[in-house]
Amino acid sequence: MSMFNKHAVLEKNSILLLVGILIVIAIGGLVEIVPLFYLKSTIEKVQGMRPYTPLELAGRNVYIREGCYLCHSQMIRPMRDEIERYGHYSLAAESMYDHPFQWGSKRTGPDLARVGNKYSDLWHVNHLIDPRSVVPESVMPGYPFLAKAELKVPDISADLKVNRFVGVPYTDEQIANAKADMMAQANPDDDNVDALEERYPGVMIRDFDGNPDEVTEMDAMVAYLQMLGTLVDFSIYDDKADLR
Ligand code: HEC
Repeated sequence: MSMFNKHAVLEKNSILLLVGILIVIAIGGLVEIVPLFYLKSTIEKVQGMRPYTPLELAGRNVYIREGCYLCHSQMIRPMRDEIERYGHYSLAAESMYDHPFQWGSKRTGPDLARVGNKYSDLWHVNHLIDPRSVVPESVMPGYPFLAKAELKVPDISADLKVNRFVGVPYTDEQIANAKADMMAQANPDDDNVDALEERYPGVMIRDFDGNPDEVTEMDAMVAYLQMLGTLVDFSIYDDKADLR
C-alpha cells in the first residue's frame, strides 16, 4: 500500500477528515498564539508617553460625544503619502492610554493623530465655531456651542478611576486632584499650576479658548487637540529610522 492509498482513508471518511483538519489548524494556531503569552507586552515602550491630563480627558470625552471620529481618524499609516502629509507614522504606544481608541475608519476630514501644535489655539476656536471662516471650502459642521458651554464634569476623578481600572497608570494623587488639575490647566494664574506640571510633565497650561472668565468645553477640546501627537519626541529617533 503506497502512502497515497493511506491518504484515501481520510478522503473517504468525512469525520476522520474533519478531525484531521482540526488537529492541523490547532497546531497552526498554537504556533501563532503561544509566543504572545511569553511577551510582557506587545506594545513597545516609548519615552514621553503619559496619561491624559483631566482637561485633555474631558476634551476627549467631548470629542467622542460629538462624533468627531465619524469624519476623522487618528492613525497615520506607515506609507509614504501619509507620512509626508501628516508626519511620523503612529506608534502603538501612542494610543496605549486611549479607551476607546480613536483610530477611526473614515476620513472625510484629515487624520488628527498629529494635529497638536500645527495651528494656534485661536485658529482652532475659530475653526470649531465656524470652519468656513478659516477654510472656505470646508464641509465640516460648526460647533459654536462649545465656546458657550461651561465645562461641566460631575466627577472627573471617577473618569480617571475608570481609566485606571482598564490599565491607565493614574496615581492616587492624580485621581484625588483631578478636579483641581482640570481647572488649573485652563488658567495659568491658578495656584495649583506647579503641582499640575509635576503630575503631568510637559503639560500645556493656558487659557485655550481666549475667554478667561470661564472654563468651557472649548477649553477642553482645544487642550486635547493641541496635545495630540506631541508627546513623543521623534527627533531622538530620527537618525535611526529615517522614514520621513
Ligand atoms: C462631517 C465630517 C466632519 C465632522 C463630523 C468633523 N469634521 Fe473636522 N474636518 C472635516 C473636514 C472635511 C476637514 C478639512 C477642512 C477643514 O479644515 O475644515 C476638517 C478639519 C478639521 C481639523 C483641521 C485638521 C488639519 O490638519 O487641518 C480639525 C482640528 C478638526 N477638523 C477637528 C474636528 C473636531 C474636533 C470635530 C468634532 C467636534 C470635527 N472635526 C468633526 C470634517 C469633519
